[in-house]
Amino acid sequence: MMHTVHSYIRLFCIIWINISTITALNPIIIKGQKLFDSITKDQFFIKGVSYQPSGANQTIQDPLANADACARDAPLIKELGANVIRVYEVDASQNHDACMKVLEEHGLYLVLDIGTSTSFIHREHPAYDVPIYNAYRSVVASFVTYPHVLAFIAGNEVSNDNATTQAATYVKAVIRDMKMLMRQNKSRAVPVGYASNDDPSIRESIKDFFVCGDDEDSQADFFGVNLYEWCGGSNFDTSGYADRTREFEAYGKPVFLSEYGCNLARPRAFDEVEAIFGPRMTPVWSGGVAYEWTQEKNDYGLVKIVDGQVQPMKDYENLKQRLTVVDPKGIHMDEYNAQPTSRQCPPITESWKASTILPPTPSEGACRCMKENLSCVSSDAVVLSTSNATVGAQIDIMCGLVDCGEIREEREKYGIFSSCSPADKLSRLYHLYVAGSNNSAQCDFNGYARPALPTRNNMALCSLIKPDIKGVPSMSTITTSSSILTVLSIVLVYTIRL
Ligand SMILES: *[C@@H]1O[C@H](CO)[C@@H](O)[C@H](O)[C@H]1NC(C)=O
Ligand SMILES: *[C@@H]1O[C@H](CO)[C@@H](O)[C@H](O)[C@H]1NC(C)=O
Ligand SMILES: *[C@@H]1O[C@H](CO)[C@@H](O)[C@H](O)[C@H]1NC(C)=O
Ligand SMILES: *[C@@H]1O[C@H](CO)[C@@H](O)[C@H](O)[C@H]1NC(C)=O
Ligand SMILES: *[C@@H]1O[C@H](CO)[C@@H](O)[C@H](O)[C@H]1NC(C)=O
Ligand SMILES: *[C@@H]1O[C@H](CO)[C@@H](O)[C@H](O)[C@H]1NC(C)=O
Repeated sequence: MMHTVHSYIRLFCIIWINISTITALNPIIIKGQKLFDSITKDQFFIKGVSYQPSGANQTIQDPLANADACARDAPLIKELGANVIRVYEVDASQNHDACMKVLEEHGLYLVLDIGTSTSFIHREHPAYDVPIYNAYRSVVASFVTYPHVLAFIAGNEVSNDNATTQAATYVKAVIRDMKMLMRQNKSRAVPVGYASNDDPSIRESIKDFFVCGDDEDSQADFFGVNLYEWCGGSNFDTSGYADRTREFEAYGKPVFLSEYGCNLARPRAFDEVEAIFGPRMTPVWSGGVAYEWTQEKNDYGLVKIVDGQVQPMKDYENLKQRLTVVDPKGIHMDEYNAQPTSRQCPPITESWKASTILPPTPSEGACRCMKENLSCVSSDAVVLSTSNATVGAQIDIMCGLVDCGEIREEREKYGIFSSCSPADKLSRLYHLYVAGSNNSAQCDFNGYARPALPTRNNMALCSLIKPDIKGVPSMSTITTSSSILTVLSIVLVYTIRL
């Protein structure tokens, strides 16, 4: 009996495997420093092309919402010899089914940057708050279900020189939270990583920073380098590729060229392709992404779009000649012994200042709870103008008048409401000022504030409310009774401990 059941299961598995290999691209998984097809267990090499045709005027450019353009371009990208596209920005509110289907039909995996031009970690003024967190996670949520999403990139060239290294701490928090989100939600664990520029003064530290520390959760699953060192008639040794390869030899996690294709000599010959997929680089790297599909102002195009039609340029033909003949030799997953590696975090120096103490996961519930206790809050006048300096300027003014410890972060100490939205932070400051002023201050502040009726009378436990991964704010059902709140909070805290 047991035997029969087993046979059935086996038969079922074989059929399922066959169906899945025919109708869908198999998810790509990571073992040690390499990528593998999760079903065939063959090593996978990224033969990618950046895909971000500039659209009309919208603030967020979403090439994967343009079904016509996807249908037009996918066959040509396949013909180029590519198996991956890298997209830098999407709009999570759009439907992506049509484009994702076309990509799948043409054997194209997706590497997706999950920040957008409106929600991202700012390299000079890094902050990680509820609106930014929600934006990242809505992108992850809308793509995690496609099996041919190869990877999420949590940041592209965010810390790009020795003056912007502190922002890396925030990107690492995004990585931690997106990995946690997928795990808690029992989604497929799409790898989450980082794409770096190639700045000599931080190159060594940044590659270590993203994979360092004891907390596996906050480590990047892979590291990409946007590498433009090989220009014109260069070669593996003189270009710098040999040095870069040596640096990543025992990295322990997959690395790939998240962009390549120096354009100082045009048309580009793409001589580097032979090296990227050749025997000196494939033991270390998992391929690369040529920059970029369409001709834009910066002159890196493979094709021109004229009146909606594609015109392949010489660069397209040259890259195609290279990409269609390379045949990287990989290893079978079962034969590959991944060595466990652990890496020390880079020390803080003059040129590297990224702390390993990460900001907390932003909690919408905690901020809502806090706001419910306020009798003076920011008005629509500031809420509506978050895109200009009003909120920031008001926060600066108020921080001169009341204690800002709760909303600020100073020297690696993150205030309990430091990840609330700017408008919520400002509300807290207005309230503190009015409440602490012997009843003399008006809740107005040139119209930026308005009185509110508190629905809560105790915010001691607000900051303990954890983010709700299902997107349902955890505090929405709580009434004004503080005893209910207390009971609930205790339950919450208890659950958190568990
Ligand atoms: C783009 O924006 C500019 C300025 O805001 C406007 O004049 C122009 O009509 C817009 N173009 C399109 C295609 O929407
Ligand atoms: C959580 O799982 C649901 C159901 O599978 C899925 O639709 C949603 O996108 C997932 N969200 C995240 C953030 O993984
Ligand atoms: C920072 O980078 C600049 C430009 O690359 C370099 O000149 C300078 O020496 C670097 N400073 C430190 C402290 O590494
Ligand atoms: C900034 O916000 C204020 C208040 O809403 C608005 O009146 C003003 O026009 C905005 N300024 C800019 C440059 O958008
Ligand atoms: C509030 O009033 C008390 C007593 O009159 C005074 O000592 C204190 O300085 C006042 N505080 C503020 C913020 O005005
Ligand atoms: C919460 O609200 C109550 C009632 O308005 C007030 O007494 C209390 O001081 C507030 N708590 C904080 C921390 O502001």
